[in-house]
Amino acid sequence: MTKVKIGILASGRGSNAQAILDSIAAGVINGQVAVIISDNPTAQVLERAEKQQIPACCIERSAFSDKRRFEEALAAELERHGVQLVVLAGFMRLLSPHFISRFPRKIMNIHPSLLPAFPGLDAQGQAIRYGAKVSGCTVHFVDEGMDTGPVILQQAVAVASDDTPQNLSERILQVEHELYPRAVQLFCQGRLHCESRIVRIDAAKEEEK
Ligand code: GRF
Repeated sequence: MTKVKIGILASGRGSNAQAILDSIAAGVINGQVAVIISDNPTAQVLERAEKQQIPACCIERSAFSDKRRFEEALAAELERHGVQLVVLAGFMRLLSPHFISRFPRKIMNIHPSLLPAFPGLDAQGQAIRYGAKVSGCTVHFVDEGMDTGPVILQQAVAVASDDTPQNLSERILQVEHELYPRAVQLFCQGRLHCESRIVRIDAAKEEEK
């Protein structure tokens, strides 16, 4: 099976990017990270890429006169590396419908809540302030909305009455590091199928078990 070429877009720490790289190194994901792109020159994810000798670059929004040109540069870099799956891992920008249409159902994101609850920023704080007893994380395909695309995988995490946004974030993050590689693996195995907004997951073939 040929390896699926993955492009990661990340703005910061990059712990999810790391979890995906680790899963590839462990032979769990039939893919390769072809490029990591950040919009932030001081992002830790760029250091991680350098350490692991993954092609990486920084494309700053401020270097372009408008969002369309910035996204053109992102898309050109992804296409130059032959990327077949775009993984958003803490990428702090909303992508335009024009960009998304260049990679139809080939862009994934992870969000730290059980969508459609608590979209947008500070999902963990939103869950605590709402008084939710359960939150969690969601991997979804990206559509034109903010955290509204078809759900691929979700996992719940209990919210304790004395949780702070920080310790709830840490517990959810541990689960993210399991869930995101699993979703990427399913994509790379060709097991994800979208029927309108329902994502069907094929059963594993014998050799994949
Ligand atoms: C994670 O909490 C993820 O759910 C959200 O952004 C954060 C990124 O963390 N989309 P990291 O950069 O992967 O460590």
